[in-house]
Amino acid sequence: MRLLLLLIPLLAVFAMVSGQDDYCFGKDSDRTQTRQFSSKTAYQIVKGTNIDKQYQVPGCEPKKMWIFHRHGTRLSKASDIKKSTRLEELRDAIVKNYRVLRQKPEENPLCLEDLIAIQMWKWNSSITPDIEEHLTSQGYDDLRGTAKLYQRYYPSVLPKPFNDTYYQFRHTDTQRTTESFKAFAEGLFGENNGAHPVDIPDRDLLLRPYDYCTSYKENNYKGEGSEYYKYKQSALWNNTKADISRRLGFLYTLEEEDIKLMFDMCRYEQAWQVDRTSVWCGAFLPEEVTVFEYAEDLKYYYGSGYGFEENSRLNCRVVQDMLTHLNNPVSPHVVAYFGHSTGLQTLLTALGINKDDIALRADNYNSLTNRRWKTSIMDPFAANFVAVKYSCPAALEKEKVVFFLNQDAVQLDWCSVGLCNWADVQEKYKHIADANCDEYYCRSGSQTLIVQSLTLVLAAIVYLMH
Ligand SMILES: *[C@@H]1O[C@H](CO)[C@@H](O)[C@H](O)[C@H]1NC(C)=O
Ligand SMILES: *[C@@H]1O[C@H](CO)[C@@H](O)[C@H](O)[C@H]1NC(C)=O
Ligand SMILES: *[C@@H]1O[C@H](CO)[C@@H](O)[C@H](O)[C@H]1NC(C)=O
Repeated sequence: MRLLLLLIPLLAVFAMVSGQDDYCFGKDSDRTQTRQFSSKTAYQIVKGTNIDKQYQVPGCEPKKMWIFHRHGTRLSKASDIKKSTRLEELRDAIVKNYRVLRQKPEENPLCLEDLIAIQMWKWNSSITPDIEEHLTSQGYDDLRGTAKLYQRYYPSVLPKPFNDTYYQFRHTDTQRTTESFKAFAEGLFGENNGAHPVDIPDRDLLLRPYDYCTSYKENNYKGEGSEYYKYKQSALWNNTKADISRRLGFLYTLEEEDIKLMFDMCRYEQAWQVDRTSVWCGAFLPEEVTVFEYAEDLKYYYGSGYGFEENSRLNCRVVQDMLTHLNNPVSPHVVAYFGHSTGLQTLLTALGINKDDIALRADNYNSLTNRRWKTSIMDPFAANFVAVKYSCPAALEKEKVVFFLNQDAVQLDWCSVGLCNWADVQEKYKHIADANCDEYYCRSGSQTLIVQSLTLVLAAIVYLMH
């Protein structure tokens, strides 16, 4: 017995010495890398925590609210769901590398706990291609939760029950945004609440303008020559892929597709079940996740951020909608839209939020570690932008606004610690308020079809004249 008591601390010391360099996701209590999963970050992990100090504005009454809400956590795409068998192959190969081929690397091996977790991993076979991109139960909770939270802070602006004069809701034409709307309504009004959205038009230029702009779609944000592409040709990227492969016991560098598959599974599983640790996240060291995060940020920076000037024009209609509704003292008092990542990012871009002084490029990963453009923080699942209009009868400026992004007051340099004068908001976004969105939002115009047919007709006339 005494011998055993003596042995235990000895063993513990031995374990500490021998295992001191082995990073262990399963034992890491901070897991900071789960805050760096770009658009697949779980809302609960990055949401703001200071709203209780930010929502109250002395001498002001909250009056109106305008919300753009991304859908909550969703399932992966059918193409990825089908690749679950490949993940099972990778799982078995990794276990074999360690247990049979004895290819455990000298440096940065998987810790035993993470290896066992990978060995035990199984794909959830209820997730089939026919339910691709559906909202998950966590995703439903995400939006029910944000609704309840905002109602707690703004009970007078978000009263029960629903009526369609006071409230105006709309979602896009997808299962995940429809369910997100329902979850949000349930959070506000309880079950069987009679809440209903307004109709979705044939061409959803309000919530999906990016589907109707040819020149936007033609921007090269990730193809050959793009910063994203160049970054993925860099030594940093190549070394990261090689390090990950070595860590998993391979004697060669895995295909990028395989690494992406494991990384996506890590991100999804972590978001599907926030309270658990995703097995696949153990395959990556925190600094490797940071390298991946920058790739995603680059892709989005050019895909829907400041990288192309046109991106800031795309949401002309939504910005006008916000300005009009907040300016108008009559109902609807609450407007809430349920859309997608691209919609939210281009909205933030139109408003000049989280704009860096220096553009993100393939070669400035190291100097931009403190960049503002971090999609993990801006655009996790269930990301939401909320504008709250206040009336301040005794103040010099009688109308004010606070913009919240994921429950955190947005800091703009022309506002005072998040509190903006309504007059300044109108001035700052006058160029959008005054624009004719049909022309402004898209370089190639929204009438591309008509233009194309006109060109054809003209060509025919020219041809006939000769
Ligand atoms: C498997 O997936 C289904 C469908 O998304 C989900 O309802 C269920 O909770 C999941 N099961 C486990 C054990 O995660
Ligand atoms: C709708 O709800 C608002 C806020 O609760 C209330 O002031 C208004 O009278 C209601 N309108 C109708 C038509 O019920
Ligand atoms: C990275 O690898 C790719 C091929 O996988 C190669 O074309 C590229 O030159 C490599 N980059 C560097 C800096 O070595």
